[in-house]
Amino acid sequence: MVCIAVLGCGLLGVKIAGEMAYHGHKVKLYDSNLTALNAVYDKIEEDKEWMKSEGLLSNNTFIGQIYCLSRLEDAVKHADFVFEAVVDDLPIKQDLFERVTQCCPPNCIVATNTLRLDITAIVERATNKERTVGLRFLYPVYYIPEVEITPGGFTSGKTIETGLY
Ligand SMILES: *[C@@H]1O[C@H](CO)[C@@H](O)[C@H](O)[C@H]1NC(C)=O
Ligand SMILES: *[C@@H]1O[C@H](CO)[C@@H](O)[C@H](O)[C@H]1NC(C)=O
Repeated sequence: MVCIAVLGCGLLGVKIAGEMAYHGHKVKLYDSNLTALNAVYDKIEEDKEWMKSEGLLSNNTFIGQIYCLSRLEDAVKHADFVFEAVVDDLPIKQDLFERVTQCCPPNCIVATNTLRLDITAIVERATNKERTVGLRFLYPVYYIPEVEITPGGFTSGKTIETGLY
């Protein structure tokens, strides 16, 4: 089982977490906003209802599990993959990448979902920059197997291969 951390429980973060749990992964969803964290399970249920109505979901039990956490360190300390999906703001992402890469395992891949920011700039203060990468999920995330991978200036070939499974 792969251990995944998703940072940010906005529209995208919740869908990424749901998609990963649907595929049987253990997902830790981090947000510093407790009000938003508390709404996660309702949002997941809404997504399940939507998928059922679309005929996309035959079994409404996700095999994996989602844990909502408000401490960054708890969310990432055992992660194999971290998907960052917070607001598209450079200083916020730079700060998050610095903190995450200090407390996640050294081989953990840390991916940003940025739409328009420079990945090399986002990871400026990160440690082990070669395991960072841009990885974008395409809306509505569920049932879209393709992701868009954008290497940053420091991304290693190994990180891209692992990112592609
Ligand atoms: C926290 O999340 C709630 C619900 O999504 C939102 O209404 C509120 O503005 C957020 N608070 C902050 C400080 O971002
Ligand atoms: C749905 O998934 C659960 C948990 O894996 C399983 O116990 C159950 O039999 C499944 N139901 C159907 C209809 O496939």
